[in-house]
Amino acid sequence: MKDLLMVIDMQKAYLKGAPWECLDTEGAAANIARLIDSGAADGAVFTRYEYPKAPVGVWKAYNELYADINADPVNEEFVDELLPYTERFPVYVKDVYGSFSDPAIRAAVRESGADTLVVCGVVAECCVISTVCGAVDEGLKVIYLTDAVSGFTPEKMAGVLAVLSGWMPLHVETMTTEEYIASRAERKEKRPVMISIAAADRNWAIGKDGDLLVSIPEDMKFFRETTKGHTVVMGRKTLESFPGGRPLKGRVNVVLSRQMTPGETQVDERTKLVVLPGIEEFLAWAEASGQDEIYVIGGGSIYRAMLPYCSKALITFIRHGFEGADTHYPNLDEDPDWSLAEESESFFWAPPAEGGPADEAAAEPVEYSFRTYERINNICY
Ligand SMILES: NC(=O)c1ccc[n+]([C@@H]2O[C@H](COP(=O)([O-])OP(=O)(O)OC[C@H]3O[C@@H](n4cnc5c(N)ncnc54)[C@H](OP(=O)(O)O)[C@@H]3O)[C@@H](O)[C@H]2O)c1
Repeated sequence: MKDLLMVIDMQKAYLKGAPWECLDTEGAAANIARLIDSGAADGAVFTRYEYPKAPVGVWKAYNELYADINADPVNEEFVDELLPYTERFPVYVKDVYGSFSDPAIRAAVRESGADTLVVCGVVAECCVISTVCGAVDEGLKVIYLTDAVSGFTPEKMAGVLAVLSGWMPLHVETMTTEEYIASRAERKEKRPVMISIAAADRNWAIGKDGDLLVSIPEDMKFFRETTKGHTVVMGRKTLESFPGGRPLKGRVNVVLSRQMTPGETQVDERTKLVVLPGIEEFLAWAEASGQDEIYVIGGGSIYRAMLPYCSKALITFIRHGFEGADTHYPNLDEDPDWSLAEESESFFWAPPAEGGPADEAAAEPVEYSFRTYERINNICY
């Protein structure tokens, strides 16, 4: 289960004294901020409404009717309280009421892998309910946050709830922000912390021709000591890159492969190998496993797929650019969701004359350090 928070049109036009004043846009904004800060949702997107610049049909009359409001750009700005969050999460501009009528928003929600859409914002009886209709048609479960949504009048807001009740409980659930945060805390307590661990060069390259770029003994030791006794999750190709294609000793090895049938699980108790067909199955397995920590150990495709679920990344950062690398880790220095929390002093490793790094240029001592990156938006699996 993955929840995506959709914050709908929290713009200045709906504040007290503004042309489209809602009952309590300010209160909705405070609850939305509290929800995001709590880390309860798995991700968030913001929408912003702009009047149609190339109106068709009734939208032409709409533009004429609201010409004065449309003329003031301040009305389109996000409310101040949520502005910092709009710099951290994707923002989609739409010129229709329902978010799912906008192909870019629909695609983003699909790509997020969310199965539940948590809906909040304004205006309850307009853009919010239109978005709920689209989400229901997309097959998403909708959670409608009663105190993080605002509308023009109490009667209209009650009317929205009356309409939504026709879809409850299968498609839609209603709850307050506090109830939602509490329900998520209960779910998250059961989930292990996910930590990504990798060795990357200065271009964030991690592999070449199915192998590592370099094996630095101290890094190998750090990897062994950090992951020992824990569960590690990897892609099928990384398992095959290990000596003899065998799982790592002293750890539960979870391997993902699409060659498995959805829902299928293969377990080898002797080698502590679990093979699963996909991320969803892995997340369900992880929740049921009772583990405290799970390490994501590669390769490139698994690092990318699992990053949204990780709260920490341990990166052995090698200050060298290896030629011909074909696999990369996401560049965390350029990712606004991540920040460098700690970095060790620099170490140097001189490769032995034989069996050195893949790149000849690395015959010089390689400088590296151990970095800890932390997720800063507090929203992860
Ligand atoms: N520097 C480091 O720290 C580090 C660590 C680990 C690996 N590496 C390097 O990374 C490279 C390998 O990375 P890679 O991206 O090519 O391969 P990979 O991630 O190790 O494995 C890819 C395979 O995993 C399975 N898979 C991936 N995503 C899946 C999903 N969502 N659901 C189910 N199965 C999924 C698929 O297996 P099927 O084809 O069987 O379906 C896919 O072909 C190697 O060069 C390796 O040495 C570097």
